Amino acid sequence: MSRAALRFSLLLLAALGRAGADSEHDQEHGDEDSPHSREKGPGHSHWSYEDREHWGVDYKDCAGTMQSPINIDTAKTIFSPQLRPIQISGYSLPANEKLKLRNNGHTVVLELPNSLAITGGYAQQYRAVQLHLHWGSPLGPGSEHTVNGHRFPAEIHVVHYNTKYDNVQKAMVQPDGLAVLGAFLEVGPMENPYYQEILQHLYKIRQEGKEVSVPGFNIAGLLPANLKLYFHYNGSLTTPPCYQTVKWTVFNQTILLSYNQMSMLVTSLTNDDSKPLQNNYRMVQDLHGRRVLASFQTTLFSVKQLSSDSDGSAAAEHSSSSFHAGDVLAVLFGVLFAVTALAFMLYICKHRSQNTRLDSPTKSKVIYTAATTEATA
Ligand SMILES: *[C@@H]1O[C@H](CO)[C@@H](O)[C@H](O)[C@H]1NC(C)=O
Ligand SMILES: *[C@@H]1O[C@H](CO)[C@@H](O)[C@H](O)[C@H]1NC(C)=O
Ligand SMILES: [Zn+2]
Repeated sequence: MSRAALRFSLLLLAALGRAGADSEHDQEHGDEDSPHSREKGPGHSHWSYEDREHWGVDYKDCAGTMQSPINIDTAKTIFSPQLRPIQISGYSLPANEKLKLRNNGHTVVLELPNSLAITGGYAQQYRAVQLHLHWGSPLGPGSEHTVNGHRFPAEIHVVHYNTKYDNVQKAMVQPDGLAVLGAFLEVGPMENPYYQEILQHLYKIRQEGKEVSVPGFNIAGLLPANLKLYFHYNGSLTTPPCYQTVKWTVFNQTILLSYNQMSMLVTSLTNDDSKPLQNNYRMVQDLHGRRVLASFQTTLFSVKQLSSDSDGSAAAEHSSSSFHAGDVLAVLFGVLFAVTALAFMLYICKHRSQNTRLDSPTKSKVIYTAATTEATA
């Protein structure tokens, strides 16, 4: 066997080994963490947020070029009128339908029945699997995505898989396998009754691995009221194994929780070392040339536009004219100024010629006469 062939076989073996290891993992912050621990005690998953800069060593996709989260620079987003409002169905669950709420050591996960679905806004159909949250600490915010460099207090992710695959495990390794709806949480004056349906149970699942059964409620209440305004891009799971299979929707409208509710979210849970479960967010990742689409015009007069299907695929920029709001305004005010100046000069000239014709001894009288002349004209 030649040296090259040997090296190739070794690489292949390594890749297969890695693939096998990866398949033990579940969806983003999934229900079941692998019992095989590399460093810590049994039941603990192998990765941690302290270790987030090194995820790429064990999970090679985490070092890829289509990673999430990202910073959304609204001035660089591309307005895409083809991005239709996100439509969801089956989100309103009766109280007798019980849902599992679990502390998996990385976040709180609410398992969702697959009767919940995204039925509009994406080119394909997706079913829900679970939702979970990312947050900071009493000292700082903890959203994963940022907008124009701003980090929000917290962020919700509702994970869905493409219905053309049998289940989420199969879907999550396909390029078009997953759709995640993300939205930012901020502090407002009122208690949010939908979030209360989750938050009121957190004290029962303080320790990692604990779970509780909670009554169904209207899950749509956890998302913003406006599902028309959003950003869209191709990215990844934000936790190992970081598969680059997520079509992201990040809503422009935020959700409000009371100050007390935000405190509950940030202080209620612990991880396996009984340390507070806080700052469970990943740093923003490089775009590596990816485009971020917007379903709305982020700046007035923006002419940047894209024609594409509702999925944003097969997109082609049909106009990238760099004629910005500032330019339009500058021209507008320039013309306005010129017209005013011209009118003023004409007025002065007219009066000057009249004044010289009325060869009067006092200036005040001249002006008075001129004014009367004009008024009666
Ligand atoms: C929503 O869009 C506006 C307009 O571009 C932007 O200024 C604002 O920061 C965005 N907010 C979020 C949460 O996306
Ligand atoms: C996402 O990836 C798909 C498949 O490669 C592509 O067709 C689509 O244009 C991409 N979307 C964006 C927003 O770049
Ligand atoms: Zn997440």
